[in-house]
Amino acid sequence: MNENSGAQRWWHGSVLYQLYVRSWRDTNGDGFGDLNGVIEGVDYLSWLGVDGIWLSPTMPSPDQDWGYDVADYLGVHPELGTLDDMDRLIAEAGQRGLRVLLDLVPNHTSTAHPWFVDAASSRDSAHRGYYVWADPEPGGGPPNNWLDATGHSAWAWHEPTGQYYLHLFLDSQADLNWFDPAVHREFEQILRFWFDRGVAGFRIDVAHGLYKDAQLRDNPPVDHPGPLAGRFGQEQKYSANRPETHEVFRDWRQIAEGYRPPRLLLGETWVGNLDGLARFYGDHDELQLAFNFPFVFSSFAAPGLAAVVAETHAKLPPGACPVWTASNHDVGRFPSRWCGGDERQARLALLVLATLPGTTVLYYGDEIGMTDVAVPPALRQDKMSADNDAWQGSRDRGRTPMQWDASPTGGFTASGVTPWLPAGDTAACNVADQRQDPASTLSLCRDLLALRRAEVGGQIADYEELAASETLWAYRTGGLVVAANFSGQPARLPGPVGEVLLASSGEVPPAGEPVTLQPWQGIICRYATSAADSPD
Ligand code: GLC
Ligand code: CA
Repeated sequence: MNENSGAQRWWHGSVLYQLYVRSWRDTNGDGFGDLNGVIEGVDYLSWLGVDGIWLSPTMPSPDQDWGYDVADYLGVHPELGTLDDMDRLIAEAGQRGLRVLLDLVPNHTSTAHPWFVDAASSRDSAHRGYYVWADPEPGGGPPNNWLDATGHSAWAWHEPTGQYYLHLFLDSQADLNWFDPAVHREFEQILRFWFDRGVAGFRIDVAHGLYKDAQLRDNPPVDHPGPLAGRFGQEQKYSANRPETHEVFRDWRQIAEGYRPPRLLLGETWVGNLDGLARFYGDHDELQLAFNFPFVFSSFAAPGLAAVVAETHAKLPPGACPVWTASNHDVGRFPSRWCGGDERQARLALLVLATLPGTTVLYYGDEIGMTDVAVPPALRQDKMSADNDAWQGSRDRGRTPMQWDASPTGGFTASGVTPWLPAGDTAACNVADQRQDPASTLSLCRDLLALRRAEVGGQIADYEELAASETLWAYRTGGLVVAANFSGQPARLPGPVGEVLLASSGEVPPAGEPVTLQPWQGIICRYATSAADSPD
């Protein structure tokens, strides 16, 4: 184990807030959220009690995939603002103790990126080797069976130079060739450019990607297709998840640890098993944080969640910091996905997310229990999920404007402006109303974050499962005990509990006596060392 294994880091016990910039707050009336909107909202985020924000892509992009097709890694998308705005945002956030993470896309670039434009200009151009080019099969056709994220061949024919190029996402997102050392040098400079400006770290897009099989072997079929096992019937054995990728993160970790405070690398590690997830932490020398997709895709039930959390703790290297999240711009919002729009369930989910040890990442709107929005086909903006159901519906459902108030555009933009995606039911769910109501989901979320900071902030608290039945999940973390009723029936706890600090909904039960949890109610209690005082 290396020197980083026991180090204290600001993200331990923290809460990060994923902010989809385009949908958060529009300050110039063009219907798109912008960096000035984030600056206007930093007081809100500081009031809410998060520790840092992760901004969805902010770099110049033709927006075929809304910023995940980068055309310049060292700039700011003009629609979102300027480099000065970014500097101001980092400074304003910093004054309130909030760190700013950017989204980095190292698996592919836009085909509008000057590297690709040059690479496509001729076979012996300076940047040809930055991308994955291949000749047709001897009998014609694409070099192998790999599929892109829309379910079609991942190879696009490039007539002028007579080769295919690889794109695991849209054909306007060309995959980089990480076997080329120049690509490594480019990204090391990109990291330093932003770290030097005070960016606290990166969320790394498609962190399980980067390297591809050198021989471009066919992917094998997958037995049970699903969001985690593989898409469109294929296991991504050769098109992703390659061992060489870990070397990249070892290099980047050294760069990140060279800064004071050390910069954070948070990977979008889309892998289906927790052994694979654990590998991204390396020996405390790769990513400091890795998104846990088995948790994201667990059913919202006591046995499933308890099992993933226990296995995560068993598999992660000692001292590694787990990451918990339940909504994002790809999978949609948990109040819909997990909770079917039932507010009690969403509040219970927030209580669990806020008490699991490690780092919790909330998605904008989670704090008010925002649900997915059914975006009519004519108004959809996401090309990748347009004509395939691998994303379980259009991803636009989870990208609609932040609901600040009850007005038709939800206070996201000026009245009369058409937002880029339609707002949801702003009258039913918005920040302004919930901020005034001490019983609202927003007030609960703020109380939960304050409790988290006071009790487990700055540490990776330990985790001990106390009960995991069909409907009841109870655990101790640090000096807290959490008991959660995952059912529509009352649930009696087997023994008395310590002082009850908070309940997700309904009355806070009194301490001492055997407690009956209401349907979908969770409670946080003080851990009482006497065995008789804990729930089992
Ligand atoms: C990641 C992003 C997703 C994007 C894809 C391609 O999965 O989260 O939104 O479409 O990568 O960059
Ligand atoms: Ca705007």
